Amino acid sequence: MDRRTFLSWVGVGWVASSLPVALAACSANSQSDSPQSNNSQGKSTAGNNRSDGFQTVGAIADLDKSQQILVEQFSAGPVLVIRNPLDPKGVVAVNPTCPHQGCLVTWKSERKSFACPCHASQFAADGKVVQGPATKALSTYEAKIEGTSVLVKG
Ligand code: FES
Repeated sequence: MDRRTFLSWVGVGWVASSLPVALAACSANSQSDSPQSNNSQGKSTAGNNRSDGFQTVGAIADLDKSQQILVEQFSAGPVLVIRNPLDPKGVVAVNPTCPHQGCLVTWKSERKSFACPCHASQFAADGKVVQGPATKALSTYEAKIEGTSVLVKG
């Protein structure tokens, strides 16, 4: 094997060994301003199916820390939970899918409303439209606190 052939094989080997690292770096999730979910990837699933239909979607401590819990893989569709601004001992759960064109709304605690990042629709804590272009309310779920857990009925 001459020097040129040897160097070309070393080059191919280096590219082949670097490829998995490069692919892993490209697939890392970098969503830093999305609502808190019950895992770091925002692809949470609810747990503890019960006979009454409620499922645990997170802990009260997480809700109080981040102001909202997003569970994208809930049995009845995505769910976003907040503290009830009219009754801080309770919680409110909505489907965060904007009825206008399907973007995900987030809770803006300073405005006490859900806001859509796509076309600026706003919704009250109960899901009703405050500002268009959306004309339909966010759908809601039954939700409650039990012990240190947040539960939503799906
Ligand atoms: S998708 Fe929400 S306002 Fe258009």
